[in-house]
Amino acid sequence: MGKKSKFLSIALAITLVIGSLSVPVFAHPTKGQPQSMDNPLDKKVINKIDADNIYNTIDYLQQTPRVASTPEEYAAVQYVKGQFESYGYDVEVQEFEYFGYTAPHTIELTINGESLNPLPFTYTPSGDVQAPLQYVGQGTEAELEGEDLTGKIALVQRGTNSFAEKVINVAEKGAIGIIIFNNAAGAINGTLGAVDDRYVPAVSITQAQGSELVTKLHNGETVTASLRVLGADAGLRTSHNVIASKKPTNKKKDTGKVITLTSHHDSVPGAPGANDNASGTAMVLELARVFKNLPTDTEIRFITFGAEELGLIGSSHYVSNLPEGDLDRIVANFNLDMVGSRDAGELVINTVDGQPNLVTELSQASSLRLNGEPSRLGRSGSSDHVPFAEAGIPAALFIHSPLEPWYHTPEDTIDKISKEKLQDVAEIVGTAIYDFARFDNQTPKQPQKHNKIKLPKQMYFEESIQ
Ligand code: BES
Ligand code: ZN
Repeated sequence: MGKKSKFLSIALAITLVIGSLSVPVFAHPTKGQPQSMDNPLDKKVINKIDADNIYNTIDYLQQTPRVASTPEEYAAVQYVKGQFESYGYDVEVQEFEYFGYTAPHTIELTINGESLNPLPFTYTPSGDVQAPLQYVGQGTEAELEGEDLTGKIALVQRGTNSFAEKVINVAEKGAIGIIIFNNAAGAINGTLGAVDDRYVPAVSITQAQGSELVTKLHNGETVTASLRVLGADAGLRTSHNVIASKKPTNKKKDTGKVITLTSHHDSVPGAPGANDNASGTAMVLELARVFKNLPTDTEIRFITFGAEELGLIGSSHYVSNLPEGDLDRIVANFNLDMVGSRDAGELVINTVDGQPNLVTELSQASSLRLNGEPSRLGRSGSSDHVPFAEAGIPAALFIHSPLEPWYHTPEDTIDKISKEKLQDVAEIVGTAIYDFARFDNQTPKQPQKHNKIKLPKQMYFEESIQ
């Protein structure tokens, strides 16, 4: 809580000055000063939040990457479910299917006995083929007119048409594999865009390697290629969302509205995902624990999504499969994704269009109350708030910016997590949600001490002995 301790020292300095002038201990707020250090409503949430709980949950989840549809992601699903249940929630595990692709684990290319180091194209199928090489230019339909590539491996240059079109064109002429070489320096890190039954194993090599092969073929040499792509696999995959709902405390006071607090529990391959996004998931769990016994008049849904890293698949499934009427009842989506990195910048509240909405307004108000200045509003997609926003629901992503250098790397580990950042975000989001969902919100509230600062007791004491 760097900001808070900074505030304390500023407050102490102000106190000493004010004290010597013998003015009352209440001062008018200025930018940079918390305005409700002792707001009793915020305190009901803040007093319950324990950053150690969030930290320990991150530590547990980050023991292994949690790639969508792997046993490790499913173990995280079961862990999140168990934690929600331990707080007393009924939990729904929502299963969904999608068409997925697993990259090959082995790619080998040998030409006339000499081994090259090719790269696979994303969405290449597996295959183990050995055949004479035939050069067919850029593999356009025009160039392939009248060609027969039956039982051959095609050698093709990058350019003019897409990688996928080249693969399909040569396959339709009978080729059993394809090698695409670059038309500029450097490697090709390419994709065929989507799975297609017509594809044959497809790899890339450099421009220099390709030109050398073209020269050999032009000179009439026989060039035989042996291409092995193993472990690539396309097909239906299963993943899960975990949903725990806190219904309004008193049915008679039910506003009929729903607030969603979300995160994704999956990670990218090779990344333990301590910050991306065990942090958001652990914070959703902690806020579910905090809210369990707080009286509220608005439903709060705590949700962790699967398969975010593959394209927001879990959250898109959730939003597009909401029961009739639910979409109209959801008034807000608070999405936590990367909320605890020691090495990232400050908290930014991002909406898809960069415009304020209910979520940013509640959160900027709570951050102003807590930290003396509102957290910054920004613009970003790239996380699970997007399907909510696209469905017309006020939604925002809570993230620190700029990103830490460990993003999507094996270094995204627990030692980079800051308990102070966790506490700060959990307080801002928790009090913002409580501000809307608390029991008495629908009736005019007692005026709160929003425009007065009550200094901490200890400072009051120091000031009063002047
Ligand atoms: N945790 C990131 C979110 C993010 C948002 C990162 C904004 C950087 C900037 C998220 O898990 C992620 O990596 N998203 C993907 C896109 C997604 C649609 C697959 C990304 O940003 O590459
Ligand atoms: Zn993420």
